[in-house]
Amino acid sequence: MLMNAVQTAAGARDRIDPGNAIIIERVSKTFETRGGTVKAIDEVSLALRGGEFVSIVGPSGCGKSTLLGIVAGLTRPSAGSVTIGSTAVNGPYERAGIVFQKDLLMEWRTALDNVLLQIELRGLARKHYVSRALDLLAKVSLRDFANKYPRELSGGMRQRVAICRALIHDPPVLLMDEPFGALDALTRDEISVDLSKVCDETGKTVVFITHSIAEAVHLSDRIIVMSPRPATILADIAVDLPRPRRIEVRDTPEFGAIAQRVRASLTALQPRR
Ligand SMILES: Nc1ncnc2c1ncn2[C@@H]1O[C@H](COP(=O)(O)OP(=O)(O)O)[C@@H](O)[C@H]1O
Ligand SMILES: [Mg+2]
Repeated sequence: MLMNAVQTAAGARDRIDPGNAIIIERVSKTFETRGGTVKAIDEVSLALRGGEFVSIVGPSGCGKSTLLGIVAGLTRPSAGSVTIGSTAVNGPYERAGIVFQKDLLMEWRTALDNVLLQIELRGLARKHYVSRALDLLAKVSLRDFANKYPRELSGGMRQRVAICRALIHDPPVLLMDEPFGALDALTRDEISVDLSKVCDETGKTVVFITHSIAEAVHLSDRIIVMSPRPATILADIAVDLPRPRRIEVRDTPEFGAIAQRVRASLTALQPRR
């Protein structure tokens, strides 16, 4: 049934690659803490088609980051399983690119060298990736900043470098946890457009956590609304807006109607006892 859901998911994009599908099956997570047990996730099942861009929105502390950590193989679920393509995720999933809210750039490396760090850490030959790194930086309007150090870059530029670093090895799966959370609204809009362009061109499977409804609608094929902790899926909303999507798409009535549905699902949330 889950595989069916993958094949028929709404908001279809051109590139469907079942090899990059993500299947989250009945995943639960309970943390044992000194103060007792904390149930963060309660039997969440979710299927992403290969190439699908899915956003997750939900109240703070509901379990979004925990779920992303489980998909990335950085956190073990208490129950359930994650499969990416034909691989069961049982440890850090190496074919994923990950972007966090903090850019985690190394201050003593230039933008280009920060992007190439990913290559060095993977033991790949740097010289084969320099031109690709420069192309990626160009795609996010940073070609002229390749040799600048992080301290010479704005917050938005730094986060663009972090995105390039996550993409340099061409991972089929991109996992992003509030990547634009620390940026001002205008910069967020700009980066959203850049990210949308890159993802449209490369057809990656993306899980994107955000607090911005506009960002979620702009970028996604589908938006998952989660309940307060323990996280369960409250709504699964398709975004059938044509691509590529420029920033002006946000002014259309179709965009407003979808944003309204997401907002209504979020505001209908009642704290659980
Ligand atoms: N390593 C951990 N140990 C104990 N509790 C944790 C741990 N990680 C997360 N939690 C708890 O799990 C819940 C969900 O956290 P998180 O996934 O970070 O939420 P979100 O990303 O939606 O804000 C929170 O109550 C948090 O305190
Ligand atoms: Mg979080």
